[in-house]
Amino acid sequence: MSYTFSRALAGMTGTATRDIFKLLSRPEIVSFAGGLPASDCLPVAQVGEITAEILADQKEALRILQYGATEGYPGFRELLGPLLEEVGIRGAGLDQLLVVSGGGQGLDLMCKAFLDDGDTVLVEDPTFLGFLETVRAYNGKLAGVRADGSGIDLDDLEAKVRRHRPKLLYAIPDFSNPTGKTWPEDRRKAVAELAAKYGFMVIEDDPYSRLRFAGTPVRSMKSFDTDGRVVYISSFSKTVSPGLRCAFAAGSGEVIRKLAIGKQGADLHTSSLSQAIVKRYLEKNYFYPGIEKSLPIYRQRKTAMIEAIKRHMPAEFRYTNPDGGLFIWGEFDAPVNTVEIFKEAIEKNAAYINGTVFFADCSGSNTLRLNYSNESPERIEAGIKALGEVFKGRIARGG
Ligand SMILES: Cc1ncc(COP(=O)(O)O)c(C=O)c1O
Repeated sequence: MSYTFSRALAGMTGTATRDIFKLLSRPEIVSFAGGLPASDCLPVAQVGEITAEILADQKEALRILQYGATEGYPGFRELLGPLLEEVGIRGAGLDQLLVVSGGGQGLDLMCKAFLDDGDTVLVEDPTFLGFLETVRAYNGKLAGVRADGSGIDLDDLEAKVRRHRPKLLYAIPDFSNPTGKTWPEDRRKAVAELAAKYGFMVIEDDPYSRLRFAGTPVRSMKSFDTDGRVVYISSFSKTVSPGLRCAFAAGSGEVIRKLAIGKQGADLHTSSLSQAIVKRYLEKNYFYPGIEKSLPIYRQRKTAMIEAIKRHMPAEFRYTNPDGGLFIWGEFDAPVNTVEIFKEAIEKNAAYINGTVFFADCSGSNTLRLNYSNESPERIEAGIKALGEVFKGRIARGG
């Protein structure tokens, strides 16, 4: 059958994401490819208990099974204020908050609200693959901004803002996907000021800041926003459960109203059952203990991966060593093509994501992303050992 798909989607194959999920289903593969929270951290018992309580309450059950308000389930948004205050965002009113179906929907709604065909979106290179695909689906034009060890390069950002006059800048200042990097406070402040000076919008995507297992938290970029230019998006996917599809956006009342209009056309509202579950999860004080339980697991797995890298990867491999989040980013100072080598790695039962999918211009063929959150230390050791042999072999053969 030959279909005439839209120009935006016709060229998209979704190959990278599809391959990840195919690989995860083969148990012999040690997968560093996904971005899943650890299965041992999913709160099965608590969600079971809460769901039973909710459905036993006739009035609440009827409310949940009926259509709900686009902005969010009653009483849920009131609980988000304290979470925002913890990242330095004070005094957000209910009209400045929107519940969304995963942070990914927040990103989609921002593109829907702000992008016309051909508008430029700046991203820190490399960045979250899902956002790059969303921009392409809205016919946006992507331009990458250089980064150093501490995140976005402010000089390159300002130069690109002047050159491209972007509508949006997308940033993950805490434990970025894919690099694990965290921006220092002064860069966050400087970017918020540049947004006000040049009049572009900033999406601050924060799924990971609470997964900090070392170092000191840094306040959000949104907390420096005096001009309504930054929209902060956070998600319960990595702190409660990704299957619940529950997240929220905080921005100026005017922007949040537009996002809500966009959401009405997408899914009308986020599942009321999911919102009610997360609401009670917060009320019953399961949230912080749940995170506390996950942090030693992530710390142990990250340490296991760093130690295995030191033991097994070639000397030409440079890598990040994050204080939180789910990812380590690696780069070869040698002619190593991670796209080509992937097949060989799979034959040795180890998977990673090649770095090209995270760059605005699909460059970075000497880079890769390693996820450590969902494999045991023993399997991490075995998987990195296998990758080390593959890459050392390739380098010895001249790439
Ligand atoms: C940086 C980033 N943003 C957004 C998302 C989407 O998360 P969700 O839609 O589950 O909240 C992810 C998921 O991995 C991510 O890594």
